[in-house]
Amino acid sequence: MFSDRTNWKLAHNRFTQALEEVRAAGDRILDLTVSNPTRAGLEYDSRAILAALASPRSLDYDPQPKGLREAREAVAEYYRSDHGVCDLDVERIVLTTSTSEGYSYVFKLLCNAGDELLVPKPSYPLFEFLADLHDVKLVPYPLIYDHGWQMDFPSLERAVTPRTRGVVGVHPNNPTGSYVKTGEREQLNAFCRGRGLAVIVDEVFLDYGLDEQVCLPGLAKAARPGAPPQRDLYQGTPSGVPKGIESQSAFRRWGEDNTRSPSTRYARSGQALHAPVDRRSPIRRLGRDDRAGRDVASFAGNRDVLTFTLSGLSKISALPQMKLAWVVTSGPEAEVAVAMGRLEVIADTYLSMNAPIQWAVPTLLEQRRSIQRQLLERVERNLVELDRRLAGQKACQRLEVEGGWYTVLRVPVTRSDEELAIELVREKHVLVHPGHFYDFPSDGYLVVSLIAPEREFGEGIGRMLQTFN
Ligand SMILES: Cc1ncc(COP(=O)(O)O)c(C=O)c1O
Repeated sequence: MFSDRTNWKLAHNRFTQALEEVRAAGDRILDLTVSNPTRAGLEYDSRAILAALASPRSLDYDPQPKGLREAREAVAEYYRSDHGVCDLDVERIVLTTSTSEGYSYVFKLLCNAGDELLVPKPSYPLFEFLADLHDVKLVPYPLIYDHGWQMDFPSLERAVTPRTRGVVGVHPNNPTGSYVKTGEREQLNAFCRGRGLAVIVDEVFLDYGLDEQVCLPGLAKAARPGAPPQRDLYQGTPSGVPKGIESQSAFRRWGEDNTRSPSTRYARSGQALHAPVDRRSPIRRLGRDDRAGRDVASFAGNRDVLTFTLSGLSKISALPQMKLAWVVTSGPEAEVAVAMGRLEVIADTYLSMNAPIQWAVPTLLEQRRSIQRQLLERVERNLVELDRRLAGQKACQRLEVEGGWYTVLRVPVTRSDEELAIELVREKHVLVHPGHFYDFPSDGYLVVSLIAPEREFGEGIGRMLQTFN
């Protein structure tokens, strides 16, 4: 009776079962997987947000396939003011209810059933469901850890087939926190141009760059306690073979993506939000002037090849519940014109945007100024605390982080990551993600959220490290 594409294994995995048992026993869990910012103890300007949703203009129905022009102008202004993309034509922006919907539009635009897209590995597990729903096949290309994370172009080349339609990049990637470097962007453009492929870039974490290791020219890398060895710590599968990708993903086994992770029960710590950050920290947030023309520049200004840049309010303003995202199309004029014509029809078929949100976009985007400051301060403090604790032991190290809300820990491989995560939740009441949720190709990786409230974060890391002593 049902389609093959929805024939998912929906049973909870052992990790989820363990978590449910600990929760059912009423034990307090230190959640180091927090990804829902609305329950992370941030201070929102609730009055401004709620007032913006009550515009009388919302009483009018104006079905614009790409979204209301005023909302798209606010998006263009964000790229102009924060990312130096000054000539973004609002007619090249399509509003969607989520980045996932944005992907969905782009997949429909580019792919016939059975066509292929190249996706980074490790990365964000929701891709697989999106691909299934569009009968698209994902072919992973590995990111390799060697002096930071890098794209592996030889693997990318081997992964291309006549069915390949595009290359997906996550900039910065979740959970590796790595940006597509300027040199990689040029190589990627040349690679795609030569093969008639599109570039699809997810920039939801773009604004959360740290200059610890962002490879800004001339910036000395700070010596850091607990720094991991920098060579061959992680090598992706050399062939780029889609290991396990057509079977069931980690998140399918787990049954949730990390935005919807069971992360929120103890999120409100009530601790001070604005305590001064220790300025001896080697980590500094990136200012607006640091961004243009650097590794952290937006792909919204990418002209060399047909490019779809996805982002939205869920991370930019930490407002995932508002369901407002977008796709920016850039590239050679003729291709952009065809793409926009077709994207408009796709969007017109659904007309999924609601009026109150669209009228609120300027105010909701404005919230980023306060929210990003709070989140970046928290990320910074948590990283400093993590490094302080890592310096006191030798078993566990963290990988370099260039941006985003997560960090990857390298841990001893005495059992599978899943076993370790189960043990941590059962014995230590600490919740972390095993690396295999993100398709790390081997055991020995845990992923922790850097936006967890600081007190819980420090205590959770401390308890976790006891396991390795
Ligand atoms: C890389 C990445 N893209 C997109 C999303 C989801 O964005 P949205 O809420 O706009 O669908 C997430 C959520 O965690 C993510 O990690």
